[in-house]
Amino acid sequence: MTQESSTPDNRPANVGLGRELILGVGGGIAAYKACDLLRRLKESGYLVTVIPTQNSLNFVGAATWEALSGRPVETNLWNNVHKVPHIQLAKIASMIVIAPTTADLLARLAGGRADDLLTNVVLASKAPLLLVPAMHPEMWLNAATVANVQTLRSRGVTVLEPDVGALTGSDIGQGRFPESQRIVAAVAENFARKADLHGHRILITAGGTREAIDPVRYIGNRSSGKQGFALALAAVRRGALVDLVAANSELADIEGVRMHRVESTADMFAKVSELADKADAIIMSAAVADARPVNRSQTKISKEQFHSLELETNPDILKHLSESRNANQILVGFAAETAGDLREKGSQKLKAKGVDLLYVNDVSQGQIFGEDDSTGWIVDSTEQDFFFQAGSKLALADLLLDRIVSKLGYPND
Ligand code: C5P
Repeated sequence: MTQESSTPDNRPANVGLGRELILGVGGGIAAYKACDLLRRLKESGYLVTVIPTQNSLNFVGAATWEALSGRPVETNLWNNVHKVPHIQLAKIASMIVIAPTTADLLARLAGGRADDLLTNVVLASKAPLLLVPAMHPEMWLNAATVANVQTLRSRGVTVLEPDVGALTGSDIGQGRFPESQRIVAAVAENFARKADLHGHRILITAGGTREAIDPVRYIGNRSSGKQGFALALAAVRRGALVDLVAANSELADIEGVRMHRVESTADMFAKVSELADKADAIIMSAAVADARPVNRSQTKISKEQFHSLELETNPDILKHLSESRNANQILVGFAAETAGDLREKGSQKLKAKGVDLLYVNDVSQGQIFGEDDSTGWIVDSTEQDFFFQAGSKLALADLLLDRIVSKLGYPND
């Protein structure tokens, strides 16, 4: 069964949905306004981790940030050192927003300093940086601040212009913290600009294939399709032309994504084969049934006769793709394991399947299947492996896409 739908317009919808943001808070009085900003970012669907500087805690305490974000708040670089939390945060973030950014923070960021948790995270992250300065007009116009802003902008950092108006005390001028809506809009605009997959075709499979035994029964698996749909959403938001081959998923079609609904492994194989040639990257996140009944009964098999099944092995779609791929095509596999050394198993499967990237997770005890979050290893043929810990499937999708982007354009043979 194949059902297709398409929309010509690939413009991203709901940019916030499930995206991981870091909200850094500098030590200015406008820190209290960042409470409203945090609320609005969350309303827009972003998942926000707050990192206040030590000085900012004089204005708004960590407890407030924890309550508003619904997440633990770390303020000290020296806590949980063994877990290297700043590196973990830096990798997961889709964007770092610092609001308010003080003159001192601008100077530290321009100088590449890493003397507290927030500046460490900024330096360790490849995520885009959006700064929202707020300070007295004299400080904003000071030659040192002007030079720092110029330096940061020349490096691709977005520095918003502060609003003009009344400031704390009797000052009037440029330096006010902007309204939350303006900042939320700037965040969305920044994402819209990050169309690093523009013009690339990505083929993604999702869900779990089913092999009919008779008109009533089938061999199937517990895959919900959430990871594959998250990948499709993340890819379309980054400007890709996305084909999503979805097997038996109850999730709704994604706007801007060409949907292909399939049932069996044979259906999926046929659809993937048809679309594979034009794809720059193929991500096989579907759980594919390894075997199917040799005979499919056209009528319901009676209880008395239903005691054994003769099976035949399904084709390995991914293996087939890796044996017949174009030189520049990127292939990504998924592996669901239930025991053993995950990373080691992932590395072996990466090689056995001949793919560039593989995500391996432990799905034992009902973990991961059907959940919104995932934990597992990203195993990479050319870059460092990465342990992805308890993050959303959307955040994982963006991390995998980051790696695909860096591989596109390099021959894989
Ligand atoms: O071998 P294993 O099933 O663990 O490999 C998982 C990976 O291979 C997934 O990316 C899955 O989509 C793909 N696969 C496939 N065809 C199969 C079995 C798995 O493409 N018959």
